Amino acid sequence: MSESHYRKGIILAGGAGSRLYPLTVSVSKQLLPVYDKPMIYYPLSTLMLAGIRQILVVSSPEHVAGYERLLGDGGRLGLQIQYAVQPRPDGLPQAFDIGREFIAEDNVALILGDNIFFGQSFQMTLEAAAVRPEGATIFTYRVRNPQRYGVVEMDADEKPVALAEKPSSPRSNLAVTGLYFFDNEVVDIAAQVTPSARGETEIIDVIAAYLERGRLFVEGLGRGFAWLDTGTHDSLLQGSNFIAAIEKRQGLKIACVEEVAYLKGFISGDELRALAEPLDEEYRHYLLSLLDG
Ligand code: G1P
Repeated sequence: MSESHYRKGIILAGGAGSRLYPLTVSVSKQLLPVYDKPMIYYPLSTLMLAGIRQILVVSSPEHVAGYERLLGDGGRLGLQIQYAVQPRPDGLPQAFDIGREFIAEDNVALILGDNIFFGQSFQMTLEAAAVRPEGATIFTYRVRNPQRYGVVEMDADEKPVALAEKPSSPRSNLAVTGLYFFDNEVVDIAAQVTPSARGETEIIDVIAAYLERGRLFVEGLGRGFAWLDTGTHDSLLQGSNFIAAIEKRQGLKIACVEEVAYLKGFISGDELRALAEPLDEEYRHYLLSLLDG
Protein backbone atom coordinates (compact mmCIF):
# COMPACT_ATOMS: atom_id res chain seq x y z
CA MET A 1 0.00 0.00 0.00
CA SER A 2 1.19 3.55 -0.75
CA GLU A 3 1.64 5.92 2.10
CA SER A 4 -1.47 7.21 3.88
CA HIS A 5 -1.97 10.96 4.00
CA TYR A 6 -4.52 10.75 6.80
CA ARG A 7 -3.47 10.53 10.46
CA LYS A 8 -6.37 12.43 11.96
CA GLY A 9 -10.11 11.99 12.14
CA ILE A 10 -13.07 13.74 13.72
CA ILE A 11 -16.16 11.93 14.98
CA LEU A 12 -19.13 14.25 15.16
CA ALA A 13 -21.43 12.98 17.89
CA GLY A 14 -23.67 16.01 18.34
CA GLY A 15 -27.24 16.69 17.35
CA ALA A 16 -30.40 16.48 19.37
CA GLY A 17 -31.50 13.02 18.19
CA SER A 18 -35.04 14.32 18.32
CA ARG A 19 -36.45 11.55 16.13
CA LEU A 20 -35.40 9.08 18.85
CA TYR A 21 -37.36 10.79 21.62
CA PRO A 22 -37.51 9.82 24.51
CA LEU A 23 -34.38 7.64 24.22
CA THR A 24 -32.26 10.73 23.73
CA VAL A 25 -33.56 12.86 26.60
CA SER A 26 -30.77 11.85 28.98
CA VAL A 27 -28.50 9.77 26.75
CA SER A 28 -26.59 11.02 23.73
CA LYS A 29 -27.79 9.34 20.55
CA GLN A 30 -24.38 7.98 19.59
CA LEU A 31 -24.06 6.23 22.97
CA LEU A 32 -27.23 4.21 22.41
CA PRO A 33 -26.69 0.50 21.86
CA VAL A 34 -26.57 -1.00 18.40
CA TYR A 35 -26.95 -4.64 19.45
CA ASP A 36 -23.96 -5.27 21.75
CA LYS A 37 -21.98 -2.04 21.71
CA PRO A 38 -22.43 1.72 21.77
CA MET A 39 -23.18 3.26 18.38
CA ILE A 40 -19.98 5.31 18.34
CA TYR A 41 -17.88 2.13 18.28
CA TYR A 42 -18.90 1.63 14.64
CA PRO A 43 -17.61 4.95 13.28
CA LEU A 44 -14.61 4.74 15.62
CA SER A 45 -13.66 1.37 14.17
CA THR A 46 -14.10 2.77 10.65
CA LEU A 47 -11.49 5.45 11.34
CA MET A 48 -9.22 2.83 12.91
CA LEU A 49 -9.55 0.61 9.82
CA ALA A 50 -8.40 3.61 7.79
CA GLY A 51 -5.25 3.62 9.95
CA ILE A 52 -6.27 6.80 11.78
CA ARG A 53 -5.08 6.97 15.40
CA GLN A 54 -5.48 10.64 16.33
CA ILE A 55 -9.15 11.26 16.92
CA LEU A 56 -11.23 14.22 18.04
CA VAL A 57 -14.70 13.46 19.39
CA VAL A 58 -17.04 16.44 19.12
CA SER A 59 -20.27 16.45 21.12
CA SER A 60 -22.68 18.76 22.88
CA PRO A 61 -21.74 20.36 26.24
CA GLU A 62 -24.11 18.10 28.21
CA HIS A 63 -22.95 14.85 26.59
CA VAL A 64 -19.21 15.12 26.01
CA ALA A 65 -18.40 13.68 29.46
CA GLY A 66 -20.21 10.45 28.54
CA TYR A 67 -17.85 9.90 25.61
CA GLU A 68 -14.84 10.61 27.80
CA ARG A 69 -16.02 8.00 30.29
CA LEU A 70 -16.45 5.47 27.51
CA LEU A 71 -13.26 6.04 25.54
CA GLY A 72 -10.86 7.92 27.81
CA ASP A 73 -7.68 9.14 26.15
CA GLY A 74 -7.73 6.14 23.80
CA GLY A 75 -4.35 4.94 25.04
CA ARG A 76 -5.59 1.45 25.85
CA LEU A 77 -6.48 1.06 22.14
CA GLY A 78 -3.23 2.59 20.93
CA LEU A 79 -5.10 5.78 20.00
CA GLN A 80 -4.95 9.42 21.03
CA ILE A 81 -8.49 10.62 21.61
CA GLN A 82 -9.33 14.23 22.41
CA TYR A 83 -12.67 15.86 23.05
CA ALA A 84 -14.27 19.13 22.06
CA VAL A 85 -17.63 20.74 22.59
CA GLN A 86 -20.05 21.94 19.93
CA PRO A 87 -22.03 24.59 21.80
CA ARG A 88 -24.97 24.47 19.37
CA PRO A 89 -25.70 22.12 16.44
CA ASP A 90 -25.21 24.76 13.75
CA GLY A 91 -24.12 22.34 11.03
CA LEU A 92 -21.57 19.65 10.27
CA PRO A 93 -18.94 22.05 8.81
CA GLN A 94 -18.60 23.57 12.28
CA ALA A 95 -16.52 20.52 13.18
CA PHE A 96 -13.63 22.00 11.20
CA ASP A 97 -13.74 25.25 13.11
CA ILE A 98 -14.00 23.47 16.47
CA GLY A 99 -11.21 21.14 15.37
CA ARG A 100 -8.96 23.83 13.88
CA GLU A 101 -6.13 23.35 16.41
CA PHE A 102 -6.45 19.58 16.33
CA ILE A 103 -6.27 19.52 12.52
CA ALA A 104 -3.39 22.03 12.33
CA GLU A 105 -1.64 21.52 8.97
CA ASP A 106 -2.92 18.00 8.33
CA ASN A 107 -5.57 16.35 6.19
CA VAL A 108 -8.58 15.12 8.14
CA ALA A 109 -11.34 12.52 7.86
CA LEU A 110 -14.78 13.30 9.26
CA ILE A 111 -17.31 10.64 10.22
CA LEU A 112 -20.76 11.14 11.64
CA GLY A 113 -21.19 9.30 14.93
CA ASP A 114 -24.35 7.53 13.77
CA ASN A 115 -22.98 6.08 10.52
CA ILE A 116 -22.47 2.31 10.39
CA PHE A 117 -20.48 0.81 7.53
CA PHE A 118 -20.02 -2.93 7.07
CA GLY A 119 -18.79 -4.91 4.13
CA GLN A 120 -16.15 -6.80 2.24
CA SER A 121 -12.98 -4.95 1.21
CA PHE A 122 -13.93 -1.83 3.17
CA GLN A 123 -10.35 -1.38 4.28
CA MET A 124 -9.22 -1.21 0.64
CA THR A 125 -11.88 1.38 -0.13
CA LEU A 126 -10.68 3.45 2.83
CA GLU A 127 -7.09 3.11 1.71
CA ALA A 128 -8.00 4.37 -1.77
CA ALA A 129 -9.15 7.60 -0.11
CA ALA A 130 -6.31 7.82 2.41
CA VAL A 131 -3.52 7.66 -0.16
CA ARG A 132 -4.80 10.77 -1.98
CA PRO A 133 -2.68 13.68 -0.78
CA GLU A 134 -5.08 16.33 -2.06
CA GLY A 135 -8.74 16.91 -2.71
CA ALA A 136 -11.77 15.37 -1.03
CA THR A 137 -13.22 11.87 -1.15
CA ILE A 138 -16.87 10.98 -0.50
CA PHE A 139 -18.44 7.52 -0.34
CA THR A 140 -21.76 6.87 -2.05
CA TYR A 141 -24.43 4.27 -1.46
CA ARG A 142 -27.60 3.54 -3.38
CA VAL A 143 -30.72 4.10 -1.25
CA ARG A 144 -34.45 3.83 -1.78
CA ASN A 145 -35.12 7.27 -0.26
CA PRO A 146 -32.44 9.71 -1.43
CA GLN A 147 -34.61 12.67 -0.36
CA ARG A 148 -33.36 12.03 3.20
CA TYR A 149 -29.69 12.52 2.33
CA GLY A 150 -27.07 14.46 0.47
CA VAL A 151 -27.26 13.22 -3.13
CA VAL A 152 -24.63 13.13 -5.88
CA GLU A 153 -25.26 12.91 -9.60
CA MET A 154 -22.62 11.15 -11.72
CA ASP A 155 -22.04 11.40 -15.48
CA ALA A 156 -21.53 8.54 -17.94
CA ASP A 157 -17.80 8.47 -17.07
CA GLU A 158 -18.59 7.99 -13.37
CA LYS A 159 -17.48 11.53 -12.57
CA PRO A 160 -19.49 13.63 -10.11
CA VAL A 161 -21.37 16.51 -11.76
CA ALA A 162 -23.87 17.82 -9.20
CA LEU A 163 -24.66 17.68 -5.49
CA ALA A 164 -27.79 18.49 -3.50
CA GLU A 165 -28.78 18.23 0.17
CA LYS A 166 -32.10 16.45 0.78
CA PRO A 167 -33.52 17.35 -2.65
CA SER A 168 -37.28 16.90 -3.10
CA SER A 169 -36.67 15.61 -6.64
CA PRO A 170 -33.35 13.72 -6.45
CA ARG A 171 -31.39 13.41 -9.71
CA SER A 172 -29.99 10.02 -8.60
CA ASN A 173 -30.36 7.33 -5.94
CA LEU A 174 -26.82 7.84 -4.70
CA ALA A 175 -26.65 9.08 -1.13
CA VAL A 176 -23.53 10.80 0.15
CA THR A 177 -22.69 8.82 3.27
CA GLY A 178 -21.45 10.42 6.48
CA LEU A 179 -17.75 9.70 5.92
CA TYR A 180 -15.52 12.24 4.25
CA PHE A 181 -11.79 12.61 3.62
CA PHE A 182 -10.60 16.20 3.15
CA ASP A 183 -7.26 17.84 2.54
CA ASN A 184 -6.26 20.70 4.82
CA GLU A 185 -8.03 23.29 2.68
CA VAL A 186 -11.27 22.15 4.25
CA VAL A 187 -10.63 24.38 7.25
CA ASP A 188 -10.77 27.51 5.08
CA ILE A 189 -13.58 26.22 2.87
CA ALA A 190 -15.77 25.32 5.84
CA ALA A 191 -15.23 28.78 7.35
CA GLN A 192 -16.77 30.33 4.24
CA VAL A 193 -19.97 28.33 3.84
CA THR A 194 -23.17 30.14 4.78
CA PRO A 195 -26.27 28.67 6.45
CA SER A 196 -28.89 26.99 4.25
CA ALA A 197 -32.65 27.53 4.41
CA ARG A 198 -32.83 25.23 7.47
CA GLY A 199 -30.50 27.62 9.32
CA GLU A 200 -27.46 25.34 9.42
CA THR A 201 -24.30 25.19 7.36
CA GLU A 202 -24.24 22.09 5.17
CA ILE A 203 -21.43 19.62 4.54
CA ILE A 204 -22.71 19.30 0.96
CA ASP A 205 -21.64 22.92 0.33
CA VAL A 206 -18.12 22.07 1.50
CA ILE A 207 -18.07 19.08 -0.84
CA ALA A 208 -19.45 21.26 -3.66
CA ALA A 209 -16.46 23.59 -3.30
CA TYR A 210 -14.18 20.63 -4.05
CA LEU A 211 -16.37 19.62 -7.00
CA GLU A 212 -16.10 23.15 -8.45
CA ARG A 213 -12.31 22.93 -8.22
CA GLY A 214 -12.30 19.54 -9.94
CA ARG A 215 -10.89 18.00 -6.75
CA LEU A 216 -13.73 15.72 -5.67
CA PHE A 217 -13.28 11.94 -5.73
CA VAL A 218 -16.11 9.47 -5.29
CA GLU A 219 -15.81 5.91 -3.99
CA GLY A 220 -18.92 3.84 -4.58
CA LEU A 221 -20.00 1.33 -1.95
CA GLY A 222 -21.64 -1.52 -3.86
CA ARG A 223 -24.84 -3.48 -3.31
CA GLY A 224 -23.01 -6.14 -1.30
CA PHE A 225 -22.18 -3.50 1.26
CA ALA A 226 -24.26 -2.30 4.21
CA TRP A 227 -24.58 1.36 5.17
CA LEU A 228 -27.06 1.47 7.98
CA ASP A 229 -29.24 4.25 9.24
CA THR A 230 -29.88 4.63 12.96
CA GLY A 231 -31.94 7.80 13.05
CA THR A 232 -35.35 6.38 13.92
CA HIS A 233 -36.65 3.73 16.33
CA ASP A 234 -37.26 1.34 13.45
CA SER A 235 -33.92 1.83 11.76
CA LEU A 236 -32.12 1.54 15.11
CA LEU A 237 -33.84 -1.78 15.78
CA GLN A 238 -33.12 -2.99 12.25
CA GLY A 239 -29.48 -2.00 12.67
CA SER A 240 -29.25 -3.99 15.90
CA ASN A 241 -30.89 -7.00 14.28
CA PHE A 242 -28.56 -6.81 11.30
CA ILE A 243 -25.43 -6.72 13.48
CA ALA A 244 -26.76 -9.52 15.69
CA ALA A 245 -27.58 -11.74 12.71
CA ILE A 246 -24.09 -11.47 11.20
CA GLU A 247 -22.23 -11.74 14.51
CA LYS A 248 -24.15 -14.83 15.61
CA ARG A 249 -23.78 -16.50 12.23
CA GLN A 250 -20.02 -15.97 12.00
CA GLY A 251 -18.97 -15.93 15.63
CA LEU A 252 -17.11 -12.73 14.82
CA LYS A 253 -17.83 -9.29 16.18
CA ILE A 254 -18.41 -6.22 14.04
CA ALA A 255 -16.68 -3.04 15.21
CA CYS A 256 -15.04 -4.60 18.25
CA VAL A 257 -12.58 -1.78 18.89
CA GLU A 258 -10.12 -3.92 20.88
CA GLU A 259 -10.02 -6.45 18.02
CA VAL A 260 -9.48 -3.75 15.39
CA ALA A 261 -6.71 -2.19 17.51
CA TYR A 262 -4.97 -5.58 17.72
CA LEU A 263 -5.40 -6.52 14.07
CA LYS A 264 -4.14 -3.11 12.94
CA GLY A 265 -1.07 -3.49 15.17
CA PHE A 266 -2.01 -0.53 17.39
CA ILE A 267 -1.68 -2.80 20.45
CA SER A 268 0.32 -5.95 21.11
CA GLY A 269 -0.99 -9.39 22.03
CA ASP A 270 0.02 -8.79 25.64
CA GLU A 271 -1.89 -5.53 25.68
CA LEU A 272 -4.95 -7.25 24.24
CA ARG A 273 -4.70 -9.92 26.93
CA ALA A 274 -4.52 -7.23 29.62
CA LEU A 275 -7.64 -5.56 28.21
CA ALA A 276 -9.49 -8.87 28.11
CA GLU A 277 -8.69 -10.15 31.63
CA PRO A 278 -11.07 -7.96 33.70
CA LEU A 279 -14.02 -8.32 31.30
CA ASP A 280 -17.13 -10.40 31.49
CA GLU A 281 -16.86 -13.97 30.26
CA GLU A 282 -18.20 -13.72 26.71
CA TYR A 283 -16.27 -10.61 25.71
CA ARG A 284 -13.12 -11.88 27.46
CA HIS A 285 -13.24 -15.21 25.65
CA TYR A 286 -13.78 -13.47 22.36
CA LEU A 287 -10.74 -11.21 22.77
CA LEU A 288 -8.55 -14.05 24.05
CA SER A 289 -9.58 -16.24 21.11
CA LEU A 290 -8.04 -13.66 18.77
CA LEU A 291 -4.63 -14.45 20.30
CA ASP A 292 -4.92 -18.05 19.10
CA GLY A 293 -4.81 -16.73 15.55
C1 G1P B 1 -26.14 14.45 7.06
C2 G1P B 1 -25.63 15.17 5.80
C3 G1P B 1 -26.09 14.41 4.54
C4 G1P B 1 -25.66 12.96 4.61
C5 G1P B 1 -26.13 12.30 5.93
C6 G1P B 1 -25.49 10.92 6.09
O1 G1P B 1 -27.52 14.56 7.12
O2 G1P B 1 -26.12 16.50 5.80
O3 G1P B 1 -25.53 15.02 3.39
O4 G1P B 1 -26.19 12.25 3.51
O5 G1P B 1 -25.74 13.08 7.07
O6 G1P B 1 -25.83 10.32 7.30
P1 G1P B 1 -28.37 14.40 8.49
O7 G1P B 1 -28.82 12.98 8.51
O8 G1P B 1 -27.42 14.75 9.59
O9 G1P B 1 -29.50 15.36 8.35
